[in-house]
Amino acid sequence: MHLNKHFSEVAESYLFSDIAHKVAAYQAAHPEADVIRLGIGDVTLPLAKPVIAALHKAVDEMGDKATFRGYGPEQGYDFLRQAIQNYYAGRGIDLKLEEIFVSDGAKSDLGNLLDLFDVNNTVLVPDPVYPVYVDDNVMAGRTVKYMAATAENDFLPMPDENTDADIVYLCSPNNPTGAAYTTAQLAQWVQWAKAHNAVILYDAAYECFVTEPGRARSIYEVEGAKDVAVEVCSFSKIAGFTGTRCGYTIVPTNIVSDGMSLNKMWLRRQTTKFNGVPYIVQRGAEAVFTEEGMKEIQHNLDYYRNNAAVIAAALDEAGVWYCGGKNSPYVWMRCPAGMKSWDFFDWLLENAHVVGTPGSGFGPCGEGYFRLTAFGDAGKTKEAAERLKKALATLK
Ligand code: MLT
Repeated sequence: MHLNKHFSEVAESYLFSDIAHKVAAYQAAHPEADVIRLGIGDVTLPLAKPVIAALHKAVDEMGDKATFRGYGPEQGYDFLRQAIQNYYAGRGIDLKLEEIFVSDGAKSDLGNLLDLFDVNNTVLVPDPVYPVYVDDNVMAGRTVKYMAATAENDFLPMPDENTDADIVYLCSPNNPTGAAYTTAQLAQWVQWAKAHNAVILYDAAYECFVTEPGRARSIYEVEGAKDVAVEVCSFSKIAGFTGTRCGYTIVPTNIVSDGMSLNKMWLRRQTTKFNGVPYIVQRGAEAVFTEEGMKEIQHNLDYYRNNAAVIAAALDEAGVWYCGGKNSPYVWMRCPAGMKSWDFFDWLLENAHVVGTPGSGFGPCGEGYFRLTAFGDAGKTKEAAERLKKALATLK
């Protein structure tokens, strides 16, 4: 046999595994250090009470012969697909039920969707970028091209006459920079995709953080986007499902190429390779969209937004440039004193016992930047912000 040689083309370990190992080594060498982790974007608030109640009820149903469920529909139960459909309808977006596919999270679908595309397709991603988009494609042997996202274009690259690709990944609000496209900007991307017979894989995992009018929460806010865009979303960030695992992907029936329907292909792929998300988890996810669920979730999102404001205030006081943190749980700061991203990572860990994510881990244009997450505990985030401020003051 021969192994997939493309695995030798990706970094030896995944960015967040690298960070976890570095922090574990530091903690082992300095057991007394009270390390605060603002690295990986993992949530800290518990699941909302209506979600917990729905999970408990579903567990009981599974223990009763009359209500027990075995294999479910691979594309998700209708009760959850309808709840997702209503969530979009509430924002004026019409989705057909058959366009909604429930998954075990955005990360899996972002990789799995590639089964539907020819290996010779060219892929375009912003730089910096969530490393999963790149690694998935490199592992499959695809060529990946980068478009620079810099302070000059507000970290929101736009297509121009030279933009050429078959598959484009857009993430808005963006991980890692926190930048969020306006609907008008996304309309230009949709127009470009139509003109180039390209598909947009749109990652909307952070849509719930958008507060600024005019910034899009879904690419389907753009008329005609259902002809060219697949949208991937998740319950992780909106409802704290990082450990519970549930997401959804919208594959519009309009997307047709080479006489094949992307929606039908995805259904075929999912029914073959996936047996669906557990019934219990889907009942929990359904409860996210109830009035009570949404109320508690908005409260949680405000908690994280406040953390972002605390981090931002510390950087303001320290006179450090940053963006994000407004329509996003990520604050994207410039490393002080011209430090490189990994040097600042080591320096901050050493001098403040605070962990963040080096910008260069997201791509070459991320060099010299650093990402801090607002998903932490509020008390610890305050403490981290204080330490950050104090440490930065020593550089003056
Ligand atoms: C991140 O920190 O970028 C995210 O937690 C990664 C993810 O959502 O998979």
